[in-house]
Amino acid sequence: MSRYASVYASWRENPEGFWAEAAKAIDWIKPPSRIFDAQAGVYGRWFPDATCNACANALDRHVAAGRGDQVALYYDSPVTATKRQITYRELLSEVETLAAVIAGFGVGKGDLVVIYMPMIPEAIAGMLACARIGAVHSVVFGGFAAKELATRIEDAEPKLILAASCGIEPGRVVQYKPLLDTALDLSRHKPKACLMFQRPQAAAAMTPGRDHDWAESVARAAGQRVAPVECQATDPLYILYTSGTTGVPKGVVRDIGGYLVALAWSMENIYGLKPGETFWTASDIGWVVGHSYIVYGPLIHGCASVLYEGKPVGTPDPGAFWRVIGEYKVSAFFTAPTALRAVRKEDPEAKHLQRYDISALRTLFLAGERADPDTVAWAERVVGRPIVDHWWQTETGWAIAANPVGLGLMPIKRGSPTVAMPGYQVDIVDEACRPVVDGVMGSIVIKLPLPPGCLPTLYRADERMRESYLAEFPGYYKTSDAGLKDADGYLTILGRTDDIINVAGHRLSTGGMEEVVAGHPDVAECAVLGIKDAIKGEQPCGFLVLKAGVSRANDVIEKEVVALVRDRIGPVAAFKLAIVVARLPKTRSGKILRGTMKKIADADAWTIPATIEDVGALEEVAAAIRARGL
Ligand code: COA
Ligand code: AMP
Repeated sequence: MSRYASVYASWRENPEGFWAEAAKAIDWIKPPSRIFDAQAGVYGRWFPDATCNACANALDRHVAAGRGDQVALYYDSPVTATKRQITYRELLSEVETLAAVIAGFGVGKGDLVVIYMPMIPEAIAGMLACARIGAVHSVVFGGFAAKELATRIEDAEPKLILAASCGIEPGRVVQYKPLLDTALDLSRHKPKACLMFQRPQAAAAMTPGRDHDWAESVARAAGQRVAPVECQATDPLYILYTSGTTGVPKGVVRDIGGYLVALAWSMENIYGLKPGETFWTASDIGWVVGHSYIVYGPLIHGCASVLYEGKPVGTPDPGAFWRVIGEYKVSAFFTAPTALRAVRKEDPEAKHLQRYDISALRTLFLAGERADPDTVAWAERVVGRPIVDHWWQTETGWAIAANPVGLGLMPIKRGSPTVAMPGYQVDIVDEACRPVVDGVMGSIVIKLPLPPGCLPTLYRADERMRESYLAEFPGYYKTSDAGLKDADGYLTILGRTDDIINVAGHRLSTGGMEEVVAGHPDVAECAVLGIKDAIKGEQPCGFLVLKAGVSRANDVIEKEVVALVRDRIGPVAAFKLAIVVARLPKTRSGKILRGTMKKIADADAWTIPATIEDVGALEEVAAAIRARGL
């Protein structure tokens, strides 16, 4: 029997008491005497008078408690044929020295540091070193283009950038340094210094006066130690930019104390892990999943975390997941459904799994996009463990809805991420913010206040925080997901209500892509939609109307548009489909009929909307889609 119902009820009865109890898992410098201040911040602040340090909670306290020789990080990089085990003591020592180096650049409490690094241990050391001195890190995913990096640098205004010379994608070395240099040319804000980690696969040309060599700087600082700095629990730990509904990303702020408390609670109760066990999250430190469950969650809980620089397939084969689980005795594994679909496509009977001993594995967790029941059923069959879907967002930092394994597994309903976690009152409402009845679809909202760990605000943008999340449904946080709840409280997440799409578990804004496409000199008008993809869940597809008088071949322009999106947003956008059409179908009030176009492209049933301006335009689009064999 799961203890979920009684634990959730105990939170409902006494939220502050619940979080005060959870807060005992954290080593505070000054423990909270107040748990929540409803008057502070945009919607209130957690642990307003407490002080602590995130790095001390992730490292120092475990070394002090005798875990120094336990592995903290298993770095496994099939793309560079490298493996490294780093103990808590070693990681602490590395972080202490790096913190001295970073402080040496004049970076202190509250200063911003952008981290543009691939999945290597130094990136994690960089994050923790910032946390140690109270600096605020902002990690930018390596698959973004220079322009996206520039937007983030301009918004964050970092004092320092930590970067590496390259990332490795199967079959190609992604040179980070030219991207960084271009980003710094584009950005109005120029940090004084960049600390560059040179990887053997590519040497970065250094800009004298600005760029500093990582290894040399660390060598010079050898033996230096920086003590963890006392921070307010409400101070920011990091800023993580995520796609908004325009090309301008949102800087999600994560405060320190609430995040530590929420992650510690989740490690035990959602993931069901004990200190000393191994947790592997196959994501990237550039995403929230990586922040929470490659870096902070496992380390705060005294677990070993796997840092995997590779893909589910092709590095070298679809047995990669099972190899890593076997090799490091992974107890809980977390990935995105898209990755399982990729494995299934190449190895439908999971023959590769037979080569490995995955007996340590208890649970496989999924998030990032809807876990389709077919993929879940396949994974249950081949892995033979509970496949636990859970739903959350960059904004929340940890699961809104999950099947809390540590409280006892609840019955799994495939296609549902199960139930709301303590801290979250999840309601389904109509446009007038009235709760709908069970089983009816509506907007998914969370009653304020959000629990510890969730964003208190957007970086230097309280008003955007209010407008984006709090204005539409008074008293609630708007998740921008649509869905429903059944009579048992199980949620189903059906998709976004805004222009955000999920491509291979990556969150992208079609509005942002439209801004880029519209910038092509021959494009008069465009619409970018997320259409179904068998592996990635969704893929973007752009429909373009050319300016009058453009005589160049359509296919040439389509290729240019594809290249433009890759250049401006990055390869991760996976924008590979651009289709020139004569007109875009619209309503009489001029709105593009995106929903109907999507249904046609997805080969779903569709009808001609009553409000359509010109039926011919819709038929032309349908013909263009059919011509592409979509
Ligand atoms: N740096 C540079 N480029 C990157 C990158 C990075 N860190 N990550 C991805 N890219 C590139 C890829 O090389 C690819 O480029 P291409 O168009 O030249 O092939 C493009 O971005 C798209 O990448 P991706 O979406 O990862 O697709 P893929 O075809 O390479 O792999 C999967 C498909 C399903 C195997 C892969 O998407 C996957 O493992 N996804 C897991 C999802 C995940 O971790 N989500 C995070 C949230 S939980
Ligand atoms: P991100 O901020 O990148 O984590 O993306 C958050 C969005 O991904 C959510 O708003 C959902 O649309 C989607 N998402 C994440 N997890 C799930 C899930 N388990 N089921 C359905 N959608 C999900």
